[in-house]
Amino acid sequence: MKTFVIFLALVAPTVVNAGSSSIAWTPETLNFVKHGNADKGKELAQQCAGCHGEQGVSEMPETPSLAGQLATYTYKELRDYAQDQRSHPIMTATAKGLSEQDSADLAVWFSTLKPAGGAGGVKSAKAEKMVEEGDGKRILPPCFVCHGANGQGEKMDIPALAGQRADYLAKTLLEYKTGQRHNDIYSRMRLIAQQLSETEIKDLAQFYQQEK
Ligand code: HEC
Ligand code: HEC
Repeated sequence: MKTFVIFLALVAPTVVNAGSSSIAWTPETLNFVKHGNADKGKELAQQCAGCHGEQGVSEMPETPSLAGQLATYTYKELRDYAQDQRSHPIMTATAKGLSEQDSADLAVWFSTLKPAGGAGGVKSAKAEKMVEEGDGKRILPPCFVCHGANGQGEKMDIPALAGQRADYLAKTLLEYKTGQRHNDIYSRMRLIAQQLSETEIKDLAQFYQQEK
């Protein structure tokens, strides 16, 4: 028992931090991404077009659109894949082949493209309530406080969700829920997704796909 407690004390801090992100938003990192070269990014993006679309709008199942996404978020995700903090067979291999400079150039290029428009359709009232009010009973903050009033994202690592493919949003929310995706700094999305039911996840994914 005693050995077990000592063991836990030794490994616990590592376990708690395990698999978050090694990106730190220092002024240097922010400045580095900001000065990514969009023209170089455009050239590099030819290898992404088959899946993410010529203009960064994806028509592939469970493949996110990148157009109009915050450059800092795209950069972080590429570095997280490259450093095995987020994992996906294709994206891990792709990101490992990109330098930090390539990642910044690509991130800036995609941020300049026009975001995918909302798909239209009926938004569930329950999802709308979750986005705007959250759920005090479950200590769930409303999504808008971080992702913005129109799902446009917020500085640094809070992604835009508006117009994103619902199948991708649902898949990635489920992966935060199970912990398969664990690169969110301070567990901000895991703590939220763990409390959402699978039905709520589907409804929220539809809601954001329809946002403009
Ligand atoms: C063969 C298809 C394919 C190619 C080529 C590809 N991707 Fe991806 N990409 C995906 C899929 C599928 C996902 C979703 C992975 C997941 O769920 O983690 C993804 C996810 C991403 C994400 C995460 C987006 C988010 O919203 O979190 C970024 C950023 C990204 N790709 C950038 C790129 C860039 C840049 C290139 C080209 C250098 C590229 N991808 C090439 C299929 C591809
Ligand atoms: C406390 C701030 C905060 C709140 C509240 C919040 N999010 Fe997030 N969300 C984040 C951050 C930060 C990330 C990026 C994490 C990372 O780097 O993986 C994120 C990422 C996501 C992603 C992944 C997007 C992508 O392109 O892969 C989805 C989907 C998402 N959030 C949906 C939601 C929904 C739905 C709600 C409301 C139920 C919500 N979020 C509430 C901070 C928040």
